[in-house]
Amino acid sequence: MHPRKGLAVLGSTGSIGVNTLDVVASHPDTFEVITLAAHSNLDLIEQQARHFRPRLAVLYDEEKATLLQRRLQGLDIDVDGGIEGLCRAATYTGVELLMSAVVGAIGLLPTIRAVEAGVDVALANKETLVMAGDLVIRADKPNWGRIIPVDSEHNAIFQALHGHHRSAIRRLLLTASGGPFRVWPTEAMQHVSVAEALNHPNWKMGRKITIDSATMMNKGLEVIEAHHLFQVPVEQVQIVVHPQSIIHSMVEFHDGSVLAQLGIPDMRIPISYALAYPERLPNALPSLNLFDIQTLSFYPPDFQRFPCLHLAFEAARAGGTMPAVLNAANEVAVQAFLDETIAFLDIPAIIEATMTQHAPEPIMDADVALQADRWARECAMAAVKECASLRTVL
Ligand SMILES: NC(=O)c1ccc[n+]([C@@H]2O[C@H](COP(=O)([O-])OP(=O)(O)OC[C@H]3O[C@@H](n4cnc5c(N)ncnc54)[C@H](OP(=O)(O)O)[C@@H]3O)[C@@H](O)[C@H]2O)c1
Repeated sequence: MHPRKGLAVLGSTGSIGVNTLDVVASHPDTFEVITLAAHSNLDLIEQQARHFRPRLAVLYDEEKATLLQRRLQGLDIDVDGGIEGLCRAATYTGVELLMSAVVGAIGLLPTIRAVEAGVDVALANKETLVMAGDLVIRADKPNWGRIIPVDSEHNAIFQALHGHHRSAIRRLLLTASGGPFRVWPTEAMQHVSVAEALNHPNWKMGRKITIDSATMMNKGLEVIEAHHLFQVPVEQVQIVVHPQSIIHSMVEFHDGSVLAQLGIPDMRIPISYALAYPERLPNALPSLNLFDIQTLSFYPPDFQRFPCLHLAFEAARAGGTMPAVLNAANEVAVQAFLDETIAFLDIPAIIEATMTQHAPEPIMDADVALQADRWARECAMAAVKECASLRTVL
């Protein structure tokens, strides 16, 4: 029998985390959960810890971590909290693969610590690459851990590139569902509710990424992610709106051949690929039935109706700390929209206002990215307050 692969699952209580543990539970002889980590969902992490018996369980929220410690007493599970707890979970003895699936900028440090320690990373937390891709993808560090993308688009490109040299890439064709407002006119988008924006047509995901899909910022972040992962300029990444979400992305090579990866829209497929790479795991998911689907359609993205796309390309071209600023301002604006403090179309306005005030600097280390993140959050919060007070006046 092969030894089991030791896993750290950061963001275990989220959409990706729960799907990851679902895959793991189907393959108990293949994987061993060494650590689990989340923010504050005490009940779910307790349940997961009792089932998977990790050596360490972490809640970022220190008060909740203390409660978790009490609840897990007598089970021989170490409990920790805060950012140090997350970094410990990512690099704990026996961890061979980190599933990096917390949402937002908080994922950066634990992910960097893991790759530096030689731990492979199944990367769902795209914010890490957006903020500091140059620090994480380092061809000059052969002993660092490998990055295996979990995002379905990048996972598709990763699969299509298997056995091919990156220098043969002509274009990456990054598919996008277009989200719930794909065909809505701008005027109608001004008044969308949180519930409408959370109603994604194809994917069931966490709240933040679902709003990012509705603004199409998600695709913008993914362009930056692809640029770092596959080391191509953003101009070589073409967004293709494909409402059915069956083709998860494509690679066009210099000879004109285009390789695509297809599948039903279920994150357990890219997750299991990333967990088992370079092997493939069987599963009981339904097969792709092309006779039922019949039509696959493709459209160019609309940069006018979805200004977040334009902002993401702009941030990528500016480089340095600008993508970290884009990301932080977006996190603040999305949260404010979810809290019903601002309107849907205020999201790009707040990001743009924040980016306009920033002079990008080169990212020499994670601290520079984190400082830019903090600055952008303050700036975006001020813009949110201004927006909210205007709303009250009107
Ligand atoms: N969902 C998808 O299908 C999908 C697809 C591609 C990429 N991604 C990416 O994967 C990441 C996770 O997405 P998701 O949809 O799974 O999000 P989600 O459902 O909102 O879950 C977020 C997870 O992160 C944890 N978390 C949040 N803040 C944290 C903190 N400060 N410290 C520790 N843990 C923290 C949450 O813990 P609590 O539950 O305790 O709050 C939860 O476990 C995002 O970067 C997203 O862009 C997701």
